[in-house]
Amino acid sequence: MSKIAIVERLEQKREAARMGGGEKRIAAQHAKGRLTARERLDVLLDEGSFEELDMYVEHNCTDFGMDQQHIPGDGVVTGSGTVNGRLVFVFSQDFTVFGGSLSERHAQKICKIMDMAMKVGAPVIGLNDSGGARIQEGVASLGGYAEVFQRNVLASGVVPQISLIMGPCAGGAVYSPAMTDFILMVKDSSYMFVTGPDVVKTVTNEIVTQEELGGAVTHSTKSGVADVAFENDIEALLAARDLVDMLPANNREGVPERPTADDWERKEDSLDTLIPASANQPYDMHELIRKVVDEGEFFEMQPTHAGNIITGFGRIEGRTVGIVANQPMVLAGCLDINSSKKGARFVRFCDAFEIPIVTFVDVPGFLPGVAQEHNGIIKHGAKLLFAYAEATVPKITVITRKAYGGAYDVMASKHLRGDLNYAWPTAEIAVMGAKGAVEIIFRGKTLEEIAERTAEYEARFANPFVAASKGFIDEVIMPHSTRRRVALGLRKLRNKTLENPWKKHDNIPL
Ligand code: HXC
Repeated sequence: MSKIAIVERLEQKREAARMGGGEKRIAAQHAKGRLTARERLDVLLDEGSFEELDMYVEHNCTDFGMDQQHIPGDGVVTGSGTVNGRLVFVFSQDFTVFGGSLSERHAQKICKIMDMAMKVGAPVIGLNDSGGARIQEGVASLGGYAEVFQRNVLASGVVPQISLIMGPCAGGAVYSPAMTDFILMVKDSSYMFVTGPDVVKTVTNEIVTQEELGGAVTHSTKSGVADVAFENDIEALLAARDLVDMLPANNREGVPERPTADDWERKEDSLDTLIPASANQPYDMHELIRKVVDEGEFFEMQPTHAGNIITGFGRIEGRTVGIVANQPMVLAGCLDINSSKKGARFVRFCDAFEIPIVTFVDVPGFLPGVAQEHNGIIKHGAKLLFAYAEATVPKITVITRKAYGGAYDVMASKHLRGDLNYAWPTAEIAVMGAKGAVEIIFRGKTLEEIAERTAEYEARFANPFVAASKGFIDEVIMPHSTRRRVALGLRKLRNKTLENPWKKHDNIPL
């Protein structure tokens, strides 16, 4: 072939790859309110930064007439690009090509960029929009999935992995996103389930729509499988950019730093009146978080699942911190099964990627109840305890109000190697609330005696001083100075080194 012919051929192949499954299928994709694989990458990555790999890869299947159908790229667009100048590796499944289904070659393309991301230490972002295993290929496709799964596991805790679910994601295919760090979904457009509504109906007689069974709202509220649900593709992709901005590129690089105009000493006088007069009255913990972090910017993970604990990323002095906080507005901020699991997974992510953890505590204890006990609050609550105890990153804790019982221990207490443990003057650190405590230790006493003893118990424990006198609290700080204290603490702890004893791995209660 002459050089000119090769260049012409190259251009034809490029054009064919860009057109994916053709105009009709692209129009169908748009009609569903979805962008194409390439349009999505345009939104996700900095303009002009995408460098595609394997554009000409084709499947190797000859069964079911597949030898007559070849589309360069084979249903997935892969490569690298930048997000605000920082390198990321990406794959974007193209539903217009064989329904984005995963063939052996399609899987090899994904594996290639995952291997490169691991070699250079950069995040992997997967845009999932696929009919699952390429049916015509059978077991070759299953093997492809398993190759991806294996890499998900090896990459876990080494480079951040983010999944966006932007169309179907069903059957065993769900397990690749499930093993990544974060899942973002698009409402009314994406779904994830192990078996779809038809199989469910046959097996259990339950009638359910795709959206109800595994849509973005279901997974971001009920199941907790997804972290955040977005209105459309563009919103989800822009959010993924914000998330990447918060994250280290790998587990050795440390948190990214960016300039901020927000004074680290900024006083927030309004925080002095955040805690209501009555101990039973809730307040919104988001207010404290937003007033402490730079420019009030907080990327919340799982905002609509297990709202009794808040998890997410913010920055202090331009550097990322992970924030975990009890939320008195939901279940009075109690720890239950879901909030323990949510908190534990977040703490472990932060620890794996050297992101300091700031914990705001207002917790009346673990949620009582038969359902909680029978569903394993012991095991699941232990997850959060375990995660905090094994974490070696800088840990700063601020008790704003209640820190009762086992939940006091769990929430990054001094005893779990909390580096700096602060309390507001409104802190109450005790085994339990005064009334409940007195009713147990003075059972059978008159109402008057109970009231008297309750007042006595309150006077003794409804303050931070007993804990401070034992060194469990390092300092009682004024709420308005919380940002300054946290910033100073983080500065101090920047070169913290702490190692756990050698082990192959721990045995967290799963
Ligand atoms: C090959 C597929 C495909 C697949 C869809 N297509 N899924 N080709 N393998 N798995 C093709 C269709 O033939 C069609 O081609 C095009 O993609 C679009 O599909 P439609 O059905 O027209 O689209 P839509 O109506 O939007 O429905 C989407 C869908 C449906 C719900 C995903 O296609 C579907 O149910 N597909 C099969 C899903 C499935 O059973 N997958 C295997 C699951 S098992 P044309 O040429 O007409 O455009 C699995 C195991 C993984 O994934 C195990 C990992 C361990």
